Amino acid sequence: MLLSIVVAVAKDGAIGKGNDLLWHLPGDLKRFKALTTGHTILMGRKTFESLPNGPLPQRRNVVISRSLQSSDGVEVFASIDEALETLSESDDEVFVIGGGEIYRQTLERAQRIYLTEVDATFPDAEVFFPKLESGEWKEVERTTFPRDERNEYETVLVVLQRRN
Ligand SMILES: NC(=O)c1ccc[n+]([C@@H]2O[C@H](COP(=O)([O-])OP(=O)(O)OC[C@H]3O[C@@H](n4cnc5c(N)ncnc54)[C@H](OP(=O)(O)O)[C@@H]3O)[C@@H](O)[C@H]2O)c1
Repeated sequence: MLLSIVVAVAKDGAIGKGNDLLWHLPGDLKRFKALTTGHTILMGRKTFESLPNGPLPQRRNVVISRSLQSSDGVEVFASIDEALETLSESDDEVFVIGGGEIYRQTLERAQRIYLTEVDATFPDAEVFFPKLESGEWKEVERTTFPRDERNEYETVLVVLQRRN
């Protein structure tokens, strides 16, 4: 099973504040939807609770939590190991979609990162993506999306593959 991380990161590594994102970037959300639709997404309980309309449609939603027992439209696991073990029996690729705690605990096991670099800094951010060791990752794709009237910052989608 291929474990892929999907994340959007500001220049300072920031990914969130107040259990929300730091920006409104519909273009990035559209790419996120295209990438993950039809697949399994794995997320922490806080990220799940930050979704404005609950589970994301047309995806198998898996939530990691010690406190949540169950919730409509999602499968809850009390540990990451247990979730990955179960998913490895049924899934070819699982997308880890956050947040900070879950990224930190899955990074070592991830083979690919779909990294959106957001061209901005957020001094009041509270949640951060772990620092990547450049020697561990090879860039395989890079696409720039300029800012426009709907997307307030320029973004660069970088696809990173783990070096073996
Ligand atoms: N920029 C991006 O791409 C992006 C993507 C996703 C999220 N975010 C942002 O990230 C922030 C949320 O991240 P976060 O780090 O605060 O929370 P999180 O990783 O989404 O969720 C943390 C929760 O997951 C559960 N958990 C974590 N490790 C566990 C383990 N080993 N076993 C069982 N349960 C475990 C716990 O739930 P219980 O407390 O229920 O036990 C914990 O409170 C928000 O601001 C969100 O908007 C940004």
